[in-house]
Amino acid sequence: MPPTPTLLRHVLHPAHVGEYATATRLAVDHLSTALGRVRGPATGLDPERAAKPVRDVDLDAPLGCTAQALAELDRVWLDDTVWFHEPGYAAHLNCPVLIPSLVAEVLVSGVNASLDTFDQSVGGTFVERHLVDWVCERAGLGPAADGVFTSGGTQSNLQGLHLARDHVRTRTGADLDRLRVLVSADGHYSVQRSARLLGLSPDAVMAVPVDDRRRMRPEALADALTRVEAEGAVPMAVVATAGTTDHGAIDPLVPAADLAHEHGAWLHVDAAYGGGLLVSRRRRQLLDGIERADSVTVDFHKTWFQPVSCSAVLVRDRAHLRHVTAHADYLNPADGGGLATRRPDQVDKSLQTTRRFDALKLWLTLRVMGADAVGELVDAVVDLAQAAHQRLREDDRVEVLAAPELSTLLLRPVAPGLDPAMVDALVPRVRAALWDGGEHVVAATVVDGRRWLKLTLLNPMAGVEDVMSVVDGIVAAADGLLGTEAA
Ligand SMILES: Cc1ncc(COP(=O)(O)O)c(C=O)c1O
Repeated sequence: MPPTPTLLRHVLHPAHVGEYATATRLAVDHLSTALGRVRGPATGLDPERAAKPVRDVDLDAPLGCTAQALAELDRVWLDDTVWFHEPGYAAHLNCPVLIPSLVAEVLVSGVNASLDTFDQSVGGTFVERHLVDWVCERAGLGPAADGVFTSGGTQSNLQGLHLARDHVRTRTGADLDRLRVLVSADGHYSVQRSARLLGLSPDAVMAVPVDDRRRMRPEALADALTRVEAEGAVPMAVVATAGTTDHGAIDPLVPAADLAHEHGAWLHVDAAYGGGLLVSRRRRQLLDGIERADSVTVDFHKTWFQPVSCSAVLVRDRAHLRHVTAHADYLNPADGGGLATRRPDQVDKSLQTTRRFDALKLWLTLRVMGADAVGELVDAVVDLAQAAHQRLREDDRVEVLAAPELSTLLLRPVAPGLDPAMVDALVPRVRAALWDGGEHVVAATVVDGRRWLKLTLLNPMAGVEDVMSVVDGIVAAADGLLGTEAA
């Protein structure tokens, strides 16, 4: 029995554009109404209460109607989700998203192009290539540069280190267990994870000490490289972080490049967080040295205000991308499948096969707003973090760590009679109390063995008073918890 017309009307097709437009408008209206109801970044739901309405849904009993399914979604998700546009949200590296990128999302999923091969994307292949070339040029990577969009910084770092491993092994013939990766003590955990996936030895990743502003110390990197060689190991890669996850610190890129070059190591710059500075007119110089990298991670879904996922890995020499190239007869045959010239298939450069056209989000953002406009938003959040830091230095209710290079603030409540260990115990409870309250959401981390609350500011619509309101919330929560204990 062929499917009935009633069933087929769910398939996007020229005959069903009316249904498509109605359903999509319903979704846009639904989200707009939900946005209008938002009263804070979260509602403080615990996992048990969040799971219940989801588990209660019988997936074998469809509602048959978009409006009802959307209404059900309120209970299941939207009523209690986390909203990154809310000024009380200051936790992880999540950003509010730009409207042009959301327009692109409609087209990305509606057309459903896949960027692995030219014959599944046509112009999409060249949109992605044009963007990659443009970002490479912004980074100053030179005429041989190339890259590809990825699912995020974790995948971009993995690919960068994959290329490093194969490049260095081709050059030196070194066994996997002799390869070492040097990264600052504050580098992203995905570096460690990548090393494991790439078959390196468990002690392959070496943490290089940082200075008082949490930047990798070049002399410590030099020492570490010398030590690696003295031990008969091979420095495979130096990973410099341009915007550490916990501090927003930017490692000194020029000395890192000099040292990597001197010791024959690959330089990977993880600019997942700091990559937005590529479009800043006031702070681009903070990334000076990035042009010396062999590979670079840039996360557009962080400081370029794009929806998840949107990231890229860039390389200075496109020839290195051959290390991830693999051929399949059905997809990208090595011999071109009988054609005189091979098709320009992006899969040759990627760890993924089927791949979303995420590049279109950045494309429409640049075409509607322009790079300078995105850069202004980046500057706005860095300005905000600096202004808030200034205020917090004069605030005797909290202790605050060094001034941010990007948009992260680390602070701890202080109060008479509280010793450091007591604050360590207090920090996670303050964070949990804020979550429960729903008005403010903050993150936490450990610095030199001490627990700190972390505020990541990525909301260009927030002001200093919004940040101070989060701090007031922290202080009130701490006072409340201490008061309860004293009582
Ligand atoms: C410096 C840095 N690198 C890499 C990543 C990983 O990015 P993603 O979460 O997109 O995989 C992060 C995430 O926060 C990061 O801060």
